[in-house]
Amino acid sequence: MTKYTRQDPEISRRKFINVAMGTTAGVGTLSLLSIVGGVKPANVLTPEKELPRKGDVLVYADPAKNGAPVALADIQVGQVVYAFPKGRSLNGSDVVKNGVPRNQLIVAKFPADQLKAPTDVKATDQGIVVYSRQCMHLGCAVEIKPYPSKNLQEAAVCPCHGGVYDLAEGAKVVDGPPPAPLPQLPIKVQGSQVVVDGFFLSLPKDLTESEFEAQKKELEKA
Ligand code: FES
Repeated sequence: MTKYTRQDPEISRRKFINVAMGTTAGVGTLSLLSIVGGVKPANVLTPEKELPRKGDVLVYADPAKNGAPVALADIQVGQVVYAFPKGRSLNGSDVVKNGVPRNQLIVAKFPADQLKAPTDVKATDQGIVVYSRQCMHLGCAVEIKPYPSKNLQEAAVCPCHGGVYDLAEGAKVVDGPPPAPLPQLPIKVQGSQVVVDGFFLSLPKDLTESEFEAQKKELEKA
């Protein structure tokens, strides 16, 4: 029996969005691009909802840290950091991309020999691996904790329906209902910062394949 409290996923998703948007209240400039043609406001792609892309710097998700870049010293084996990408948007502004749950990121570190397939090791650096924090089932925010029944010291565990992901093995699903691994985001270490080095390696939550490809294309052109 799962020890996690079942929550209404819609409530959890709203909570997640509220937390995710906490650091950018008031940022509301609309991008020229809409992923579905700009009819419904909910689907308008604003700068803070854009996908993380090459060159974005990871900044702390914790509002108390005021958008500061994640310090390498804080990324230790066994100590996960939550982050958002920050970088130039399609309209040229420099924004923290915290407007959608999929953009909140788990920054974890493992001894290099513990990162195993299907992790894309080329998309990691110094044992640091980054994934979207949004559960691929119904979109709640996963938490990092031990999961003894699968012998995991550091698993991503979803509080909504008990989905569990193994962060050392490509965030593959090891328990519960999620239909897919958490999407891995390629990164590299540049100086004292962690920098995004490409797009999510698999389809993130709440985007269709065509929306994902269309956004990537727009961002690659810009
Ligand atoms: S939302 Fe259902 S397991 Fe995560």
